[in-house]
Amino acid sequence: MSQITVAVNGALGRMGQQVMSAVIADPSFSLTCASDIKADKEYVVLPGHAQKIPLHSNLTALIEMYHPDVVVDFTVAGAAINSARLALKNGSNMVIGTTGVTAAEIKEIGQLAIRYQKGAIVAANFSIGAVILIHLAKIAAKYFDNAEIIELHHDKKIDAPSGTALATAEAMLKARGRPFIIPPTEKETLKGTRGGQKDGISIHSVRVPGMVASQEVIFGALGQTLVLRHDTINRESFMPGVMLAIKEVVKRRGLVVGLETLLDLGD
Ligand SMILES: NC(=O)c1ccc[n+]([C@@H]2O[C@H](COP(=O)([O-])OP(=O)(O)OC[C@H]3O[C@@H](n4cnc5c(N)ncnc54)[C@H](O)[C@@H]3O)[C@@H](O)[C@H]2O)c1
Repeated sequence: MSQITVAVNGALGRMGQQVMSAVIADPSFSLTCASDIKADKEYVVLPGHAQKIPLHSNLTALIEMYHPDVVVDFTVAGAAINSARLALKNGSNMVIGTTGVTAAEIKEIGQLAIRYQKGAIVAANFSIGAVILIHLAKIAAKYFDNAEIIELHHDKKIDAPSGTALATAEAMLKARGRPFIIPPTEKETLKGTRGGQKDGISIHSVRVPGMVASQEVIFGALGQTLVLRHDTINRESFMPGVMLAIKEVVKRRGLVVGLETLLDLGD
């Protein structure tokens, strides 16, 4: 089978660099070119690889020259929609990992994918483990009345709770169809110690240097607890999900939202 040709947008960023290394390491792919708004050289060379990858600040020029099968975008919110417009219109499939893509942008990407008969995948979390944790938490949510979430991140994270913790709580609540039960704390001697509340789920955010990203969901019932935990060690954790998306997007027509859709997890 011929290799899938890939272009990476946001190539000089942390995720872009990681994606390029993963694409080069997989014999199913050929990394044809790379784009970044900050490009000031004609080539990018990755640590440990001799290959010179053509680099340009203008994604359109690259797509017209190299016609990649797939454009992968890890840039900034607001930029990914333009990459999708250019890529889909010019015959490439699109994988977007950039976070903050709006509902209106997702709708437009879906319409463009149908119009140009291409595949598009938008996923805010490419970590297979994190997606499976949410799936398992949805199953457990029906059988346990009590649940708390502890999410742990590095000290530079600006928001709390994490988007993943909120998405996990929302998925659990939707699967359960009713709120969880919070045991009453008669006397909270230090305000906030019981965490933030989301329909009966207490969410606790830990921020410490040295931590990357972890999440624990603790379920409780009579005489038993069930603990689900996922740890992200580094950005490599996202690569199996991104590589799966590149392989899948070329087989599809139209839009897929969320890595879970590609994992055949059942209902
Ligand atoms: N889906 C996931 O699983 C996942 C995982 C990690 C990060 N992310 C998201 O990926 C995105 C990138 O994260 P990062 O840590 O690599 O950020 P980064 O700041 O290290 O890299 C972003 C790169 O995009 C480039 N860029 C900005 N605007 C551009 C444009 N208009 N055209 C081309 N290039 C442009 C920047 O110059 C930079 O090199 C963020 O939105 C982040 O939240 C998603």
